[in-house]
Amino acid sequence: MVLTRILFILFLAGLTSCGNDKASSNNETLPSETPAQKGASLYTVNCASCHGEDGKMGGSGAKDLSQSRLGDKQIKKILQKGKNAMPPMSAILENEENMELVIQHIKTLRK
Ligand code: HEC
Repeated sequence: MVLTRILFILFLAGLTSCGNDKASSNNETLPSETPAQKGASLYTVNCASCHGEDGKMGGSGAKDLSQSRLGDKQIKKILQKGKNAMPPMSAILENEENMELVIQHIKTLRK
């Protein structure tokens, strides 16, 4: 519940700060990053090395995330505890909020 509220506030913050930064360069980390963008960059940094940008790479025997049909709770459990060749990700993702953003992102990779 609290998390949902945080996400909503982040979402609003992302929306309202859009449009002010048209002139800024792509190389900078934009302060106005939306939750979806944050989820995507967390994924790129922490997950794409095994799963690939599109989730299909399968490095180290990683599951194809575009084919995965796990629910949020199951995904979270794997992220917290790891599974076989996949290491636990809690420490790397730092907090619950980042974990939630990544979960939302990997669900957008599904076909
Ligand atoms: C070191 C390589 C590696 C990294 C980094 C990694 N994974 Fe994985 N991942 C795997 C492997 C290997 C499996 C397959 C585990 C098994 O079932 O044997 C897997 C499985 C999964 C599954 C289960 C899919 C299914 O349907 O069973 C999810 C979800 C997942 N990874 C998400 C992530 C996310 C999100 C990140 C980044 C925070 C991440 N992984 C980072 C290797 C990795």
